[in-house]
Amino acid sequence: MNQADFVWMNGELVAFEDAKVHVLTHALHYGTGVFEGVRAYETPDGNPAIFRHSDHLDRLFQSARLYYMDIPFSKEELRAATHETITRNGLKSCYIRPLVFRGAGPMGLFPLDCPVEVSIAVWEWGSYLGDEGKQNGVRAKVSSWRRIGDDALIPAAKATGQYLNSVLAKIEADKAGYEEAILLDTHGYVCEGTGENLFIVKDGKIATPTYLSGVLGGINRAAAIQISRDLGFELQERQVARDELYLADEIFMTGTAAELTPVREVDDRPVGAGEPGEITRSVQRVFEDALHGRAERYADWNDVVPVPAPTP
Ligand SMILES: Cc1ncc(COP(=O)(O)O)c(C=O)c1O
Repeated sequence: MNQADFVWMNGELVAFEDAKVHVLTHALHYGTGVFEGVRAYETPDGNPAIFRHSDHLDRLFQSARLYYMDIPFSKEELRAATHETITRNGLKSCYIRPLVFRGAGPMGLFPLDCPVEVSIAVWEWGSYLGDEGKQNGVRAKVSSWRRIGDDALIPAAKATGQYLNSVLAKIEADKAGYEEAILLDTHGYVCEGTGENLFIVKDGKIATPTYLSGVLGGINRAAAIQISRDLGFELQERQVARDELYLADEIFMTGTAAELTPVREVDDRPVGAGEPGEITRSVQRVFEDALHGRAERYADWNDVVPVPAPTP
């Protein structure tokens, strides 16, 4: 991880080394935080642009609301703070991590008397599942851990404590020699990866698990759905059975960190021909163009960060 110079904390930029919290921070003890993973990409005119920024800010505020947190900044203020954090760190493309968390205050499970704090960190970060994985596909394993159900937590919220679920699945997959885990929902239907939504392709048709399976409402999922349909593919949001993973012609995953990554093997069975298929490739091409501000059709997905002119 390439360290940036500044982190935005509660309204101001502080030096990386000073971006600290107290050990009694409520969120450290009980996972009472919500966050986003966002990316900015260098566009053809040289400016960075944040991919679907307003959707990420909407989801951040939605997650906060689901956990009774009032964010002490407006969306517009956080948008401007993100722009400033990117430009002051001199970055053209980066990963962006806004975090809203319960700070130090009264201990115990009742959190509402603890302050709500906000930070935005940025850093240069390659694709989560690797460039090689993006190119040739990754090997995945169906996890023994099920995705959290909505009778225990809130799958639609991107809350820090909830990620222990993904952490367990990720470690299990890694120790077994796979790049990624696929979690089933509480009923045994396919849900998603540890940090990605999942799509299968069979006989030219695309399907992706629905909210009924407890997926996180992925912003890249929405982008991939729209791109697939715009390319003329039939795409269904529906429950996906486990055996469909083994019989799929193609599988791919989407997420801010992983971008669009094909899956070439599930549980030691090759997906289709064991390499990314044609439909995956065609969606991936347009998706990459959209991320980098090269797709005119999706230009309004890019929140351009104005880079100040150099001082003479
Ligand atoms: C559990 C989980 N599912 C899906 C996603 C994909 O969401 P997005 O495309 O908004 O990054 C993420 C990443 O944020 C995630 O953590």
